[in-house]
Amino acid sequence: MKTQPASHGLKEIPRHVAVIMDGNGRWARQRMLNRIEGHRRGIESVRAVVRTAGELGIAYLTLYAFSKENWKRPKVETATLMHLLGTFLRREIGELNRNKVRLKAIGVLEDLPPKVLRQFRATEAATAKNTGLTLILALSYGARDEITRAAREIAAEAVAGRIAPASVDEKTVARHLDTAGVPDPDLLIRTSGELRVSNFLLWQISYAEFVVSPTLWPDFRREQFLDALREFGRRHRRFGGVESLPRA
Ligand code: IPE
Ligand code: IPE
Ligand code: MG
Repeated sequence: MKTQPASHGLKEIPRHVAVIMDGNGRWARQRMLNRIEGHRRGIESVRAVVRTAGELGIAYLTLYAFSKENWKRPKVETATLMHLLGTFLRREIGELNRNKVRLKAIGVLEDLPPKVLRQFRATEAATAKNTGLTLILALSYGARDEITRAAREIAAEAVAGRIAPASVDEKTVARHLDTAGVPDPDLLIRTSGELRVSNFLLWQISYAEFVVSPTLWPDFRREQFLDALREFGRRHRRFGGVESLPRA
């Protein structure tokens, strides 16, 4: 049976949740394990959060899986992360389809090893017709890079005479971002207690609510996700305006 949102004490289900999945390395270090073990365990958290998001009727879930800056890490770590990603994409097709999840990505996918990119495209195609949760993986993603690429495209269109500079507005910029067509996140969760955005969705999170969880990503499962959603339900969003008071 499908769990109803109300049964978790959730007042409001955000349309789009974005997550900075952080703390895999620290989780492993605390256990005297290799960082890779933290990443491996982190995949279980991805499964739990995707399943819960789908169940609750969240429309979009964006997961920061690998940043542009993460390429600075030792080769053995980036290579293993890419290998884990490829395996995840291959193994998860059945589960994604069962849960009606449609897979998408943002970032510079061409940076991925060709084999992983091919696997991503295959899983994306296999889930393209699903009508439930849209799962967006941020892969080799950096927000400044995304905005820079958008600016480059708009400039090229202007030079080609297809767009007048004076007509460039926020909608033009949004249309050229990797997230074109996706509503802005309502809620941004970061795990592991770090209070920074690390170059994630800088444009799109203008009015997102932030929830920072002290839990390290490999321990962040259904309950911790529900806690973050409950916290979101207690927030009062004003978007620069004034809050409308509940009617007496
Ligand atoms: C998040 O965990 C996973 C990725 C960034 C790929 P980290 O690997 O950043 O873990 P910490 O922050 O070192 O604990
Ligand atoms: C952010 O985590 C990137 C991802 C979660 C993929 P990092 O661990 O790379 O961020 P910093 O280095 O702590 O800012
Ligand atoms: Mg980290």
